[in-house]
Amino acid sequence: MAVLPIRTLPDPVLRQKTKKVSSIDKSVKKLIADMRETMHAEPGRVGLAAPQVGVSLCVTVIGLPEEEDIILINGKIVKRKGKRLVNEGCLSIPGYVGELYRAESVTAKGLDIKGKEIRIKAEGLLAQALEHEIDHLNGFLYIDHLESPEALRKIQPDDVTI
Ligand code: NI
Repeated sequence: MAVLPIRTLPDPVLRQKTKKVSSIDKSVKKLIADMRETMHAEPGRVGLAAPQVGVSLCVTVIGLPEEEDIILINGKIVKRKGKRLVNEGCLSIPGYVGELYRAESVTAKGLDIKGKEIRIKAEGLLAQALEHEIDHLNGFLYIDHLESPEALRKIQPDDVTI
C-alpha cells in the first residue's frame, strides 16, 4: 500500500468523467487499498475519489470517524431528499471551504469490493460525502455548486475536508 499524491486544481483529471469499472481485478483492489491509506494518512479526511489520485475510474472510498470504510465502485446517487446549507472543503482545492446546498438525505447505488450490488441510504455527513465523491466521478467539484463567489472562504482548523 502507498500514500498517493493528491491532484489539485487545475489538474484536468479532476474535470473528466470517469470510466466504469468492468472488473474488480488486482489493479482496482490495489487502487482501493492505496486510496484508503491516502485518505487515512491525515485526520479529518472523510472521503476520496479516484480522480483525486490521478485515476479516471469510477471508484470512491468514504471513511467517517468511528465508522468502517465504505468502498463504492460505479457509484451513483439514485435519490435525493430535502436541502440543507453546509460547509464543505475538498483535498483537491487546498486551503478553502465553501458554503453550498446539499441534500438532507440520499440513496446511492453501486458495487462493493466483491462486486456485490449495494444500496446506501444516508443522511448528514455521510449523505454529503456521497454527493461530494460521486460528483468527483462526473468531473464536478463543490465550487460548481456555490451560491456566489463570496461563499468561498479560507479554511479553519475544524473544517471538514471531504
Ligand atoms: Ni473532494
